[in-house]
Amino acid sequence: MGVAHNPQEAVIETRQLYKRFGQVTALENINIRIQRGEFVAIMGASGSGKTTLMNILTCLDTVTEGQVLLDGVDAAALDEEGRRRFRADKIGLVFQQFHLIPFLTALENVMLAQHYHSVVDETAARQVLAQVGLEHRTDHLPSQLSGGEQQRVCIARALVNEPPVIFADEPTGNLDEENEQRVLALLQDLHHQGRTIVMVTHNPELGRFADRIIRLQHGKYLSEEVQQHAVA
Ligand SMILES: Nc1ncnc2c1ncn2[C@@H]1O[C@H](COP(=O)(O)OP(=O)(O)OP(=O)(O)O)[C@@H](O)[C@H]1O
Ligand SMILES: [Mg+2]
Repeated sequence: MGVAHNPQEAVIETRQLYKRFGQVTALENINIRIQRGEFVAIMGASGSGKTTLMNILTCLDTVTEGQVLLDGVDAAALDEEGRRRFRADKIGLVFQQFHLIPFLTALENVMLAQHYHSVVDETAARQVLAQVGLEHRTDHLPSQLSGGEQQRVCIARALVNEPPVIFADEPTGNLDEENEQRVLALLQDLHHQGRTIVMVTHNPELGRFADRIIRLQHGKYLSEEVQQHAVA
């Protein structure tokens, strides 16, 4: 809090990043920079290394070689507890499989994320649920929510600690078209509010919403393109 950031500062940077699983080189010499406030899509075919990269950028996994700088911190400098804390404080995660705790209500699932962040505030948790249009579903269990509603709880959970970066791995992979549009509109809103969003997808329809697309192929950086949007 209270730290002034240079808008040109990379919130994420990788330098000559390699990730190997035994004989498999999942990522090879990846050098990317994501600026604060950008909405970036990481795209590529199945097996191109998208999830592997996302796991490294969110400190769920470590590099084999090279460097990852996250919000100015070298991930290699963190031990497991440091990585856990970093995730809790700096990163909001949205997954294709929602990963909600089945025996906790929508509100409790959101508050659990606050617990990891060590700041529990029910009013703030209710506010983020209202932000995703679920103020009337706070006491429902995941099994009592539709897929689209569950994904919106996940987005609320990702938002509640006000992380500088939100990562979403195929966030609409389990949703019908109407809910896909709704979740995308929500991500766009967050982006317009100044959040940094990194979305992993193989779906070109979703990629259209990003400012910039970074393409991977067979674990290597293939290309990138900046997209112009007609601002609504
Ligand atoms: N734990 C692991 N052990 C061995 N190989 C792995 C492991 N995790 C990923 N890989 C391999 O690394 C490559 C990249 O996998 P990754 O999951 O990152 O792909 P992806 O782009 O996310 O694909 P998808 O679109 O299918 O989700 C694949 O060839 C995969 O088989
Ligand atoms: Mg994947």
